[in-house]
Amino acid sequence: MDLGIAGKWALVGGASKGLGYGCAQALAQEGVNVLMVARGQETLAQAASNLRAQALPGGTSVEYVTADITTAAGRAAIFAHRAAFDIVVTNAGGPPPGDFRD
Ligand SMILES: NC(=O)c1ccc[n+]([C@@H]2O[C@H](COP(=O)([O-])OP(=O)(O)OC[C@H]3O[C@@H](n4cnc5c(N)ncnc54)[C@H](OP(=O)(O)O)[C@@H]3O)[C@@H](O)[C@H]2O)c1
Repeated sequence: MDLGIAGKWALVGGASKGLGYGCAQALAQEGVNVLMVARGQETLAQAASNLRAQALPGGTSVEYVTADITTAAGRAAIFAHRAAFDIVVTNAGGPPPGDFRD
């Protein structure tokens, strides 16, 4: 099915693993250009490399910025890299596990 989103640009937070990586992968496989964000440089670089190694539609770009998306400085770094996006996946780590009463 052609979703009609090929060639668009997506910002995906929390993209080095888990749900964010899954979103980045699904978007890239649709031919969407993806900017992946997470804090850990090594895991994020590897995740971007893994995506690029997959059979993506021709011309699809996979880029990454190492940043904490919950901080103003992190968001500034992201938008310094690229100013506009068509799709935004607002995702990051959840709260630490614990007692619900906390
Ligand atoms: N998995 C589930 O079944 C499920 C269900 C409901 C809700 N959720 C929620 O969905 C979100 C993602 O869950 P997940 O299971 O995919 O988590 P995950 O596997 O732990 O992945 C979290 C991702 O977010 C990145 N990240 C964390 N904090 C960040 C920050 N401040 N700025 C930028 N990137 C950040 C992590 O990389 P770095 O640590 O390197 O930054 C990692 O790439 C969480 O909020 C979780 O509570 C998950």
